[in-house]
Amino acid sequence: MERLAATLRAAGHLTPAWEPAFRAARRDLFATDVIWFPRDETAVPLTLQPCDRNSEPKLWSDRVWSVGPVNIQVDDGDPRGPEGSGTGATSGISNALLVFDMLHLLDVRPGQRCLEIGAGAGWNAGLLAARLGDENVVTIDVDPTVADIARANLAQAGLAPLVLTGDGALGHPKGAPYHRVIATCGSRQLPYAWVEQTRPGGVIVAPISFTWRPLTYVARLEVDDSGVASGAFRLPCEFMSLRSQRVFHRELSELLGDQADVEMPGARTMLDPVAVYQQEVLAIYLSAAVPGVEIYHDESDGTVHLGTWQEAPGQGSYALITGCADENGPWTVHQWGPRKLWDETVAAHRFWEEQGFPDYGRFGLTVASPTDHRIWFDAPDGPSWPLPPLASRH
Ligand SMILES: C[S@@+](CC[C@H](N)C(=O)[O-])C[C@H]1O[C@@H](n2cnc3c(N)ncnc32)[C@H](O)[C@@H]1O
Repeated sequence: MERLAATLRAAGHLTPAWEPAFRAARRDLFATDVIWFPRDETAVPLTLQPCDRNSEPKLWSDRVWSVGPVNIQVDDGDPRGPEGSGTGATSGISNALLVFDMLHLLDVRPGQRCLEIGAGAGWNAGLLAARLGDENVVTIDVDPTVADIARANLAQAGLAPLVLTGDGALGHPKGAPYHRVIATCGSRQLPYAWVEQTRPGGVIVAPISFTWRPLTYVARLEVDDSGVASGAFRLPCEFMSLRSQRVFHRELSELLGDQADVEMPGARTMLDPVAVYQQEVLAIYLSAAVPGVEIYHDESDGTVHLGTWQEAPGQGSYALITGCADENGPWTVHQWGPRKLWDETVAAHRFWEEQGFPDYGRFGLTVASPTDHRIWFDAPDGPSWPLPPLASRH
């Protein structure tokens, strides 16, 4: 515990105000006997292996007291990898630096009521309950097994915030209004219920994930007295998604239908597609400015692919950009479907270039109603682009 405390203190994360909560909600009390992590970080594909506290106590303890995430569940509780391994983490304790980064953004004060979405192992709810009092903290997890684990872990630490099982996207209206709402799973559309359940002047800290690339940035939104939440992106992070907002992809042939067989003439482009892919901040801006499009770079052959992968079958659009003899271009573009995705990207990219390649902190999000979500630049009343509603499976 002291090693983790020292690391967090040195990074400015563990402040005197949080010290007592850090000691009350001891991180090891929130880790299950079996935790999951990759034994070989370089393996492709990466798989997560179990580590049992009883058979490997030192390894277990080293993981739990490191800053890294501690996964308590993989593949929704049904490991799908080879030899009992997991292919993806679906619940756990988040990275300790990120937990405290987000708590600092949340900026809680004694007496405030707080709603957390995504109880996981219960550590963050434990920290909040130790700081604000059990009666002021509500946490929700969609997975009943996980919610039971969180309740048991919190009880072990002598803490008893309200732990609910259910879809956190609905919040918990009975406990509203809250001064603070914190989500510990990513949403591609911030559920408006969270805004409605936050007091005017209250704060929502939530990881927002994007269509353009599967990247997540934490936003800090303040809610005004007309039910509008607005604020800038504050830090990049990695979070699992709200279960109801997980992304699905169609096969290219299904996406394009009959158009898949049409030969498209190649055009030339001077905008480097790999550079466009690599600029992570563009995930925020282009998810709104080129709505519904996802970019992918195939490192094996240097190609870049753009698609509206969630469009109805036969109605999708797709662009393929292939490499060139020298790295300064031109590149060759083939585009299928009703939208010319690369042309849209080039046009939208111009704005970002004209602004001098701004970083994520200059972009923000305003949520004004269940359907009115906008990404803005520099200020809520600056240039802005509507975030498209989530596609549902057709
Ligand atoms: C990274 S874990 C939470 C970490 C945790 N708060 C901690 O103390 O560090 C994310 C959790 O979000 C939960 N989750 C996903 N979708 C949800 C939803 N729609 N409602 C509530 N919880 C959800 C998952 O089951 C998972 O347990």
